[in-house]
Amino acid sequence: MINADGYFDERVAEQYDQSSGAEFEPTAIARAVDVLAELAGRGAALEFGIGTGRLALPLARRGVPVHGIDLSRAMVSRLRAKPGGADIGITIGDFATTQVTPPPAEPFTLAYLVFNTIMNLADQESQVECFRNAADHLAPGGVFVVEVMVPELRKIPPGQNIVPFHTSPTGWAYTVYDTVTQDATCHYIELTPDGRGEAHSIPFRYVWPAELDLMARLAGLRLRHRWDSWTRAPFTEDSVQHVSVWEKVPV
Ligand SMILES: C[S@@+](CC[C@H](N)C(=O)[O-])C[C@H]1O[C@@H](n2cnc3c(N)ncnc32)[C@H](O)[C@@H]1O
Repeated sequence: MINADGYFDERVAEQYDQSSGAEFEPTAIARAVDVLAELAGRGAALEFGIGTGRLALPLARRGVPVHGIDLSRAMVSRLRAKPGGADIGITIGDFATTQVTPPPAEPFTLAYLVFNTIMNLADQESQVECFRNAADHLAPGGVFVVEVMVPELRKIPPGQNIVPFHTSPTGWAYTVYDTVTQDATCHYIELTPDGRGEAHSIPFRYVWPAELDLMARLAGLRLRHRWDSWTRAPFTEDSVQHVSVWEKVPV
């Protein structure tokens, strides 16, 4: 059930930072922050979907002024409670359309949207709007960075539409794909210690790299880099995700 916090409500927020996922490992965070700090240069950074500050807080500690937009007060309250969290400017709203007002003293040289969160915009028009919103915030020459998976349709055998991505004796997670509309839903089911179950589902829209390039172009951005990951290794046909960097074309 969706509420004002979107799909990242109190229950999700309280567990978010306890994840054992690779994205939460200190070396993975440091690698991403290195790239973001270099791209921000001497300007400010704007994170769409800032969440609990997984990247924003270490980026701010590197001396980059960081501002964030997020729908979820539950996620943002975790960020606020961490050291340095009170110094991050936050705007509550939908990052596809919300403007940061007033803009910070330094121009935004970097906007970024990581961890597959562009797919949380569940239709193409919102994803297009998101690129426009990023471009509207950026100074000329500034860059928009997106980290997102490559749609995993190669994993779907003919006649099926489900990809499991977590299985354990007490938990299952899988994605159901609609390959006509590019809509999909992740379903998470977890047994609780009392033997009951908890389930929640998050809809998303998967999106192809070339489609993102077109959205960028519509927003006045052009591709500068497409990497396989934060290591900056080249993106190849075997890449399962990409980190893409588009720059705002001076007019
Ligand atoms: C997967 S979390 C990522 C948080 C953080 N960027 C990180 O890397 O850990 C996604 C975040 O995006 C926020 N979010 C999702 N869709 C949003 C939207 N349309 N507008 C604003 N925030 C959104 C959620 O509330 C959540 O905090």
